[in-house]
Amino acid sequence: MMLRRWMAAGLVAVATAGVLNAVPAAAERPYDPTAQSLRALGQRHGLYVGTAVDMAALADPAEPRYREIVRDEFSTVTAENVMKWESLEPTRGNYDWAAADELVATARRNGQKVRGHVLVWHSQLPKWLTDGVADGSIDNTELRSILRKHITTVASRYRGKIWQWDVVNEAVSDPWDTPSTLHYKGFWAEHLGPGYVADAFRWARAADPTALLFYNDYNIEAFGSGDPANDKTQFVYDMVKGLLARGVPIDGVGSQGHLGTQYGNYDTLQVADALHRFAGLGLSTAFTEVDVRSRLTDGVQAGDSEEINPRLQASAANFHVLLQACLAEPRCLSFTVWGFTDRHSWVPGTFDDPPQGLATIYDENYQPKRAYQVMKADLIYAGPPYVRMRATPKPRR
Ligand code: XIL
Repeated sequence: MMLRRWMAAGLVAVATAGVLNAVPAAAERPYDPTAQSLRALGQRHGLYVGTAVDMAALADPAEPRYREIVRDEFSTVTAENVMKWESLEPTRGNYDWAAADELVATARRNGQKVRGHVLVWHSQLPKWLTDGVADGSIDNTELRSILRKHITTVASRYRGKIWQWDVVNEAVSDPWDTPSTLHYKGFWAEHLGPGYVADAFRWARAADPTALLFYNDYNIEAFGSGDPANDKTQFVYDMVKGLLARGVPIDGVGSQGHLGTQYGNYDTLQVADALHRFAGLGLSTAFTEVDVRSRLTDGVQAGDSEEINPRLQASAANFHVLLQACLAEPRCLSFTVWGFTDRHSWVPGTFDDPPQGLATIYDENYQPKRAYQVMKADLIYAGPPYVRMRATPKPRR
Protein backbone atom coordinates (compact mmCIF):
# COMPACT_ATOMS: atom_id res chain seq x y z
CA MET A 1 0.00 0.00 0.00
CA MET A 2 2.71 2.39 1.02
CA LEU A 3 4.64 1.45 -2.04
CA ARG A 4 1.70 2.14 -4.36
CA ARG A 5 1.10 5.55 -2.77
CA TRP A 6 4.70 6.39 -3.16
CA MET A 7 4.62 5.37 -6.80
CA ALA A 8 1.50 7.43 -7.45
CA ALA A 9 3.11 10.44 -5.85
CA GLY A 10 6.14 9.86 -8.01
CA LEU A 11 4.01 9.83 -11.14
CA VAL A 12 2.34 13.07 -10.16
CA ALA A 13 5.73 14.61 -9.64
CA VAL A 14 6.87 13.49 -13.07
CA ALA A 15 3.68 14.71 -14.68
CA THR A 16 3.99 18.09 -12.97
CA ALA A 17 7.57 18.41 -14.11
CA GLY A 18 6.32 17.57 -17.59
CA VAL A 19 3.86 20.46 -17.53
CA LEU A 20 6.36 22.94 -16.21
CA ASN A 21 8.98 21.83 -18.63
CA ALA A 22 6.71 21.23 -21.60
CA VAL A 23 9.32 20.23 -24.16
CA PRO A 24 9.89 16.47 -23.98
CA ALA A 25 13.35 15.06 -24.52
CA ALA A 26 14.20 14.23 -28.12
CA ALA A 27 13.86 10.50 -27.49
CA GLU A 28 10.27 10.99 -26.25
CA ARG A 29 9.12 13.08 -29.20
CA PRO A 30 6.61 11.12 -31.24
CA TYR A 31 8.08 12.49 -34.45
CA ASP A 32 11.67 13.57 -34.71
CA PRO A 33 11.94 15.55 -37.91
CA THR A 34 15.71 15.59 -37.84
CA ALA A 35 15.69 11.83 -38.34
CA GLN A 36 13.64 12.15 -41.52
CA SER A 37 15.05 12.13 -45.04
CA LEU A 38 14.96 15.13 -47.34
CA ARG A 39 12.36 13.36 -49.45
CA ALA A 40 10.08 12.74 -46.45
CA LEU A 41 10.43 16.31 -45.25
CA GLY A 42 9.75 17.69 -48.73
CA GLN A 43 6.57 15.67 -48.95
CA ARG A 44 4.95 17.76 -46.22
CA HIS A 45 5.01 20.67 -48.69
CA GLY A 46 4.33 18.53 -51.77
CA LEU A 47 7.89 19.43 -52.78
CA TYR A 48 9.97 16.84 -54.61
CA VAL A 49 13.64 16.79 -53.66
CA GLY A 50 15.87 15.37 -56.36
CA THR A 51 19.35 14.54 -57.51
CA ALA A 52 21.14 14.01 -60.78
CA VAL A 53 22.28 10.40 -60.99
CA ASP A 54 25.63 9.25 -62.32
CA MET A 55 24.76 5.84 -63.77
CA ALA A 56 28.33 4.52 -63.45
CA ALA A 57 28.37 5.26 -59.72
CA LEU A 58 24.88 3.80 -59.33
CA ALA A 59 26.03 0.51 -60.86
CA ASP A 60 29.38 0.35 -59.03
CA PRO A 61 29.44 -2.58 -56.55
CA ALA A 62 32.01 -0.67 -54.48
CA GLU A 63 29.56 2.21 -53.94
CA PRO A 64 26.63 0.91 -51.85
CA ARG A 65 26.24 4.27 -50.06
CA TYR A 66 25.67 6.00 -53.38
CA ARG A 67 22.72 3.73 -54.13
CA GLU A 68 21.31 4.01 -50.61
CA ILE A 69 21.40 7.78 -50.55
CA VAL A 70 19.81 8.06 -54.00
CA ARG A 71 17.04 5.74 -52.82
CA ASP A 72 16.49 7.12 -49.34
CA GLU A 73 16.94 10.87 -49.60
CA PHE A 74 15.36 11.80 -52.93
CA SER A 75 11.91 11.66 -54.47
CA THR A 76 12.87 12.62 -58.03
CA VAL A 77 15.89 11.76 -60.15
CA THR A 78 17.50 13.17 -63.28
CA ALA A 79 19.94 11.35 -65.56
CA GLU A 80 23.17 13.34 -65.31
CA ASN A 81 24.20 12.25 -68.83
CA VAL A 82 22.48 9.15 -70.16
CA MET A 83 19.42 10.84 -71.70
CA LYS A 84 21.55 13.26 -73.70
CA TRP A 85 21.58 12.83 -77.46
CA GLU A 86 25.22 11.67 -77.72
CA SER A 87 24.46 8.89 -75.23
CA LEU A 88 21.16 7.82 -76.78
CA GLU A 89 22.12 7.85 -80.47
CA PRO A 90 25.90 7.46 -80.70
CA THR A 91 25.67 6.32 -84.33
CA ARG A 92 22.98 7.58 -86.64
CA GLY A 93 19.75 5.58 -86.45
CA ASN A 94 20.95 3.27 -83.64
CA TYR A 95 19.49 4.19 -80.30
CA ASP A 96 21.04 2.69 -77.18
CA TRP A 97 18.42 2.90 -74.47
CA ALA A 98 20.05 0.64 -71.87
CA ALA A 99 21.33 3.22 -69.37
CA ALA A 100 18.35 5.57 -69.69
CA ASP A 101 15.92 2.67 -69.27
CA GLU A 102 17.87 1.59 -66.20
CA LEU A 103 17.47 5.02 -64.62
CA VAL A 104 13.72 4.97 -65.26
CA ALA A 105 13.44 1.43 -63.85
CA THR A 106 15.46 2.36 -60.75
CA ALA A 107 13.22 5.37 -60.14
CA ARG A 108 10.16 3.18 -60.42
CA ARG A 109 11.56 0.71 -57.88
CA ASN A 110 12.38 3.57 -55.53
CA GLY A 111 9.00 5.27 -55.92
CA GLN A 112 10.60 8.34 -57.50
CA LYS A 113 9.57 10.69 -60.26
CA VAL A 114 11.87 11.32 -63.22
CA ARG A 115 12.96 14.65 -64.68
CA GLY A 116 13.84 13.98 -68.30
CA HIS A 117 17.04 15.75 -69.30
CA VAL A 118 17.37 16.77 -72.10
CA LEU A 119 15.68 16.86 -75.53
CA VAL A 120 17.35 19.88 -77.21
CA TRP A 121 20.73 21.29 -76.21
CA HIS A 122 23.73 22.51 -78.16
CA SER A 123 26.13 20.46 -76.07
CA GLN A 124 26.81 16.70 -75.89
CA LEU A 125 25.42 16.17 -79.39
CA PRO A 126 26.49 13.06 -81.32
CA LYS A 127 29.53 13.49 -83.55
CA TRP A 128 27.73 12.17 -86.62
CA LEU A 129 25.32 15.08 -86.30
CA THR A 130 27.77 17.92 -85.73
CA ASP A 131 30.21 16.50 -88.34
CA GLY A 132 27.41 16.12 -90.88
CA VAL A 133 26.39 19.74 -90.42
CA ALA A 134 29.98 20.93 -90.51
CA ASP A 135 30.82 19.12 -93.76
CA GLY A 136 27.55 20.10 -95.43
CA SER A 137 26.19 16.56 -95.79
CA ILE A 138 23.30 17.54 -93.48
CA ASP A 139 21.62 20.80 -94.61
CA ASN A 140 19.36 22.90 -92.40
CA THR A 141 16.13 21.42 -93.77
CA GLU A 142 17.32 17.93 -92.98
CA LEU A 143 18.65 19.10 -89.60
CA ARG A 144 15.18 20.31 -88.63
CA SER A 145 13.61 16.98 -89.51
CA ILE A 146 16.36 15.11 -87.63
CA LEU A 147 15.60 17.20 -84.54
CA ARG A 148 11.88 16.56 -84.86
CA LYS A 149 12.51 12.83 -85.19
CA HIS A 150 14.79 12.78 -82.16
CA ILE A 151 12.32 14.61 -79.91
CA THR A 152 9.48 12.40 -81.12
CA THR A 153 11.46 9.18 -80.65
CA VAL A 154 12.70 9.94 -77.15
CA ALA A 155 9.55 11.58 -75.77
CA SER A 156 7.42 8.74 -77.17
CA ARG A 157 9.59 6.03 -75.66
CA TYR A 158 9.22 7.49 -72.19
CA ARG A 159 5.63 8.70 -72.54
CA GLY A 160 3.89 8.45 -69.19
CA LYS A 161 7.19 7.85 -67.34
CA ILE A 162 8.58 11.36 -67.25
CA TRP A 163 7.25 13.96 -64.83
CA GLN A 164 9.06 16.99 -66.21
CA TRP A 165 10.98 17.16 -69.48
CA ASP A 166 13.74 19.69 -70.04
CA VAL A 167 12.66 20.27 -73.63
CA VAL A 168 15.08 23.08 -74.44
CA ASN A 169 18.23 23.74 -72.43
CA GLU A 170 20.46 26.84 -72.35
CA ALA A 171 19.18 28.60 -75.47
CA VAL A 172 20.11 32.08 -74.27
CA SER A 173 23.53 33.73 -74.19
CA ASP A 174 25.18 35.36 -71.17
CA PRO A 175 26.12 39.00 -70.65
CA TRP A 176 29.80 38.06 -70.96
CA ASP A 177 29.34 36.40 -74.37
CA THR A 178 30.27 38.04 -77.66
CA PRO A 179 28.22 39.75 -79.02
CA SER A 180 27.41 41.00 -75.57
CA THR A 181 23.74 41.84 -76.15
CA LEU A 182 21.68 38.85 -75.12
CA HIS A 183 20.72 36.59 -77.99
CA TYR A 184 19.69 33.06 -78.90
CA LYS A 185 22.97 31.18 -78.90
CA GLY A 186 24.38 27.87 -79.98
CA PHE A 187 24.15 25.22 -82.65
CA TRP A 188 20.35 25.10 -82.99
CA ALA A 189 19.78 28.85 -83.16
CA GLU A 190 22.62 29.21 -85.67
CA HIS A 191 21.17 26.62 -88.03
CA LEU A 192 17.43 26.77 -87.46
CA GLY A 193 16.88 30.26 -86.04
CA PRO A 194 15.13 30.95 -82.71
CA GLY A 195 11.89 29.35 -83.97
CA TYR A 196 13.31 25.94 -83.02
CA VAL A 197 12.34 26.63 -79.39
CA ALA A 198 8.59 26.74 -80.12
CA ASP A 199 8.88 23.81 -82.53
CA ALA A 200 10.60 21.69 -79.90
CA PHE A 201 7.82 22.22 -77.36
CA ARG A 202 5.12 21.43 -79.92
CA TRP A 203 6.88 18.25 -81.03
CA ALA A 204 7.45 17.16 -77.43
CA ARG A 205 3.80 17.73 -76.56
CA ALA A 206 2.64 15.76 -79.59
CA ALA A 207 4.76 12.81 -78.45
CA ASP A 208 3.97 13.01 -74.73
CA PRO A 209 0.67 14.54 -73.61
CA THR A 210 1.34 14.00 -69.89
CA ALA A 211 4.81 15.35 -69.08
CA LEU A 212 5.30 18.89 -67.85
CA LEU A 213 7.42 20.64 -70.48
CA PHE A 214 10.20 22.90 -69.19
CA TYR A 215 12.60 25.47 -70.53
CA ASN A 216 15.83 25.08 -68.49
CA ASP A 217 18.75 27.49 -68.08
CA TYR A 218 21.43 28.84 -65.72
CA ASN A 219 21.94 32.40 -64.48
CA ILE A 220 18.22 33.00 -64.19
CA GLU A 221 17.94 32.80 -60.40
CA ALA A 222 17.05 36.49 -60.02
CA PHE A 223 16.08 39.57 -61.98
CA GLY A 224 18.10 42.72 -62.06
CA SER A 225 21.62 41.35 -62.09
CA GLY A 226 23.53 44.21 -63.72
CA ASP A 227 22.44 46.20 -66.77
CA PRO A 228 18.68 45.80 -67.40
CA ALA A 229 19.20 45.47 -71.16
CA ASN A 230 21.49 42.58 -70.42
CA ASP A 231 19.38 40.81 -67.81
CA LYS A 232 19.25 37.14 -68.78
CA THR A 233 16.34 36.40 -66.43
CA GLN A 234 14.34 39.18 -68.11
CA PHE A 235 15.22 37.79 -71.55
CA VAL A 236 14.01 34.33 -70.57
CA TYR A 237 10.90 35.83 -68.97
CA ASP A 238 10.06 37.70 -72.18
CA MET A 239 10.80 34.61 -74.23
CA VAL A 240 8.46 32.30 -72.29
CA LYS A 241 5.79 35.01 -72.13
CA GLY A 242 6.00 35.21 -75.93
CA LEU A 243 5.77 31.43 -76.26
CA LEU A 244 2.66 31.36 -74.07
CA ALA A 245 1.07 34.20 -76.06
CA ARG A 246 1.54 32.11 -79.20
CA GLY A 247 -0.07 29.05 -77.61
CA VAL A 248 3.16 27.05 -77.33
CA PRO A 249 2.72 24.19 -74.82
CA ILE A 250 5.29 25.19 -72.21
CA ASP A 251 4.56 24.33 -68.57
CA GLY A 252 7.56 25.51 -66.65
CA VAL A 253 10.91 27.20 -66.30
CA GLY A 254 13.78 25.31 -64.72
CA SER A 255 16.42 27.36 -63.00
CA GLN A 256 19.59 25.26 -62.89
CA GLY A 257 21.13 26.92 -59.84
CA HIS A 258 24.81 26.34 -60.52
CA LEU A 259 26.29 28.87 -58.11
CA GLY A 260 29.74 29.64 -56.76
CA THR A 261 30.72 31.12 -53.42
CA GLN A 262 33.24 33.41 -55.12
CA TYR A 263 30.51 35.31 -56.96
CA GLY A 264 27.95 37.73 -55.61
CA ASN A 265 25.35 35.75 -53.75
CA TYR A 266 21.61 36.20 -53.96
CA ASP A 267 19.21 36.65 -51.11
CA THR A 268 16.00 34.69 -50.63
CA LEU A 269 13.66 37.57 -51.41
CA GLN A 270 15.30 38.25 -54.77
CA VAL A 271 15.10 34.63 -55.80
CA ALA A 272 11.54 34.21 -54.51
CA ASP A 273 10.56 37.31 -56.50
CA ALA A 274 11.83 35.71 -59.71
CA LEU A 275 9.91 32.50 -59.00
CA HIS A 276 6.75 34.47 -58.21
CA ARG A 277 7.05 36.36 -61.49
CA PHE A 278 7.38 33.20 -63.57
CA ALA A 279 4.47 31.72 -61.64
CA GLY A 280 2.52 34.89 -62.44
CA LEU A 281 2.69 33.89 -66.10
CA GLY A 282 0.96 30.64 -65.19
CA LEU A 283 4.16 28.58 -65.28
CA SER A 284 5.58 26.11 -62.83
CA THR A 285 9.18 26.44 -61.76
CA ALA A 286 11.85 24.14 -60.39
CA PHE A 287 15.45 24.25 -59.32
CA THR A 288 16.94 21.62 -61.55
CA GLU A 289 20.73 21.40 -61.09
CA VAL A 290 21.73 23.03 -57.83
CA ASP A 291 25.32 22.99 -56.68
CA VAL A 292 27.47 25.69 -55.10
CA ARG A 293 31.14 25.40 -55.89
CA SER A 294 34.16 27.06 -54.29
CA ARG A 295 37.74 27.78 -55.22
CA LEU A 296 40.05 25.02 -54.02
CA THR A 297 42.82 27.33 -52.89
CA ASP A 298 46.18 25.98 -51.75
CA GLY A 299 44.93 26.39 -48.19
CA VAL A 300 41.75 24.41 -48.89
CA GLN A 301 43.76 21.66 -50.53
CA ALA A 302 46.14 21.57 -47.56
CA GLY A 303 43.16 21.09 -45.22
CA ASP A 304 43.32 24.53 -43.58
CA SER A 305 40.03 24.89 -41.70
CA GLU A 306 40.26 28.69 -41.76
CA GLU A 307 39.89 28.48 -45.52
CA ILE A 308 37.55 25.51 -45.68
CA ASN A 309 34.94 26.52 -43.10
CA PRO A 310 33.88 29.84 -44.61
CA ARG A 311 33.45 28.09 -47.96
CA LEU A 312 31.28 25.37 -46.49
CA GLN A 313 29.21 28.04 -44.76
CA ALA A 314 28.86 30.12 -47.90
CA SER A 315 27.93 27.09 -49.94
CA ALA A 316 25.28 26.08 -47.39
CA ALA A 317 23.92 29.64 -47.36
CA ASN A 318 23.37 29.50 -51.11
CA PHE A 319 21.57 26.15 -50.94
CA HIS A 320 19.42 27.72 -48.23
CA VAL A 321 18.56 30.78 -50.32
CA LEU A 322 17.45 28.72 -53.32
CA LEU A 323 15.50 26.18 -51.27
CA GLN A 324 13.78 28.76 -49.10
CA ALA A 325 12.78 30.75 -52.19
CA CYS A 326 11.43 27.59 -53.79
CA LEU A 327 9.41 26.80 -50.66
CA ALA A 328 7.97 30.32 -50.79
CA GLU A 329 6.42 29.77 -54.23
CA PRO A 330 3.75 27.04 -54.40
CA ARG A 331 4.41 26.59 -58.12
CA CYS A 332 8.03 25.64 -57.43
CA LEU A 333 7.57 21.90 -57.78
CA SER A 334 10.98 20.40 -57.20
CA PHE A 335 14.47 21.08 -55.93
CA THR A 336 17.13 18.95 -57.59
CA VAL A 337 20.82 18.92 -56.72
CA TRP A 338 23.35 18.19 -59.48
CA GLY A 339 24.90 15.23 -57.74
CA PHE A 340 24.82 14.92 -53.97
CA THR A 341 28.39 13.98 -53.09
CA ASP A 342 31.75 15.59 -53.80
CA ARG A 343 32.91 12.09 -54.67
CA HIS A 344 30.88 12.17 -57.89
CA SER A 345 30.49 15.80 -58.86
CA TRP A 346 31.07 17.27 -62.31
CA VAL A 347 32.63 20.39 -60.77
CA PRO A 348 36.31 19.42 -60.27
CA GLY A 349 36.51 17.91 -63.76
CA THR A 350 34.89 20.92 -65.43
CA PHE A 351 36.09 23.92 -63.44
CA ASP A 352 39.78 23.16 -63.11
CA ASP A 353 41.43 26.47 -63.97
CA PRO A 354 41.49 27.57 -61.19
CA PRO A 355 40.47 24.35 -59.42
CA GLN A 356 36.99 24.33 -57.89
CA GLY A 357 35.00 21.84 -55.85
CA LEU A 358 33.16 21.33 -52.53
CA ALA A 359 29.94 21.96 -54.46
CA THR A 360 27.54 19.34 -53.09
CA ILE A 361 25.71 18.49 -49.87
CA TYR A 362 27.75 15.39 -48.84
CA ASP A 363 31.52 15.18 -48.68
CA GLU A 364 33.61 12.60 -50.52
CA ASN A 365 32.99 10.06 -47.76
CA TYR A 366 29.24 10.48 -47.87
CA GLN A 367 29.14 12.53 -44.69
CA PRO A 368 26.38 15.16 -44.80
CA LYS A 369 27.80 18.66 -44.91
CA ARG A 370 26.40 21.86 -43.44
CA ALA A 371 24.47 22.38 -46.70
CA TYR A 372 22.57 19.14 -46.09
CA GLN A 373 21.62 20.19 -42.55
CA VAL A 374 20.55 23.59 -43.76
CA MET A 375 18.28 22.03 -46.39
CA LYS A 376 16.80 19.80 -43.76
CA ALA A 377 16.14 22.71 -41.41
CA ASP A 378 14.54 24.70 -44.23
CA LEU A 379 12.16 21.83 -44.93
CA ILE A 380 11.36 21.34 -41.24
CA TYR A 381 10.84 24.93 -40.14
CA ALA A 382 8.54 25.93 -42.96
CA GLY A 383 4.78 25.90 -43.26
CA PRO A 384 1.66 28.00 -43.66
CA PRO A 385 0.91 30.79 -44.21
CA TYR A 386 4.02 31.62 -46.22
CA VAL A 387 5.00 28.13 -47.27
CA ARG A 388 2.06 26.28 -48.72
CA MET A 389 1.40 22.97 -50.41
CA ARG A 390 2.64 22.84 -54.01
CA ALA A 391 -0.03 23.49 -56.66
CA THR A 392 -0.22 20.56 -59.07
CA PRO A 393 -0.53 21.83 -62.63
CA LYS A 394 -2.12 20.19 -65.65
CA PRO A 395 0.09 19.89 -68.73
CA ARG A 396 -0.68 22.68 -71.19
CA ARG A 397 -2.06 21.63 -74.60
C1 XIL B 1 27.14 18.03 -67.14
C2 XIL B 1 27.44 16.69 -66.48
O1 XIL B 1 27.30 16.84 -65.09
C3 XIL B 1 28.84 16.24 -66.82
O2 XIL B 1 29.07 14.93 -66.32
C4 XIL B 1 29.04 16.27 -68.32
O3 XIL B 1 30.39 15.95 -68.63
C5 XIL B 1 28.71 17.63 -68.89
O4 XIL B 1 27.38 17.97 -68.52
N1 XIL B 1 24.10 22.13 -67.46
C6 XIL B 1 23.36 21.03 -67.82
C7 XIL B 1 23.87 19.67 -67.51
O5 XIL B 1 22.22 21.19 -68.29
O6 XIL B 1 23.45 18.71 -68.45
C8 XIL B 1 25.38 19.65 -67.37
O7 XIL B 1 25.77 18.35 -66.94
C9 XIL B 1 25.83 20.72 -66.41
C10 XIL B 1 25.43 22.08 -66.90
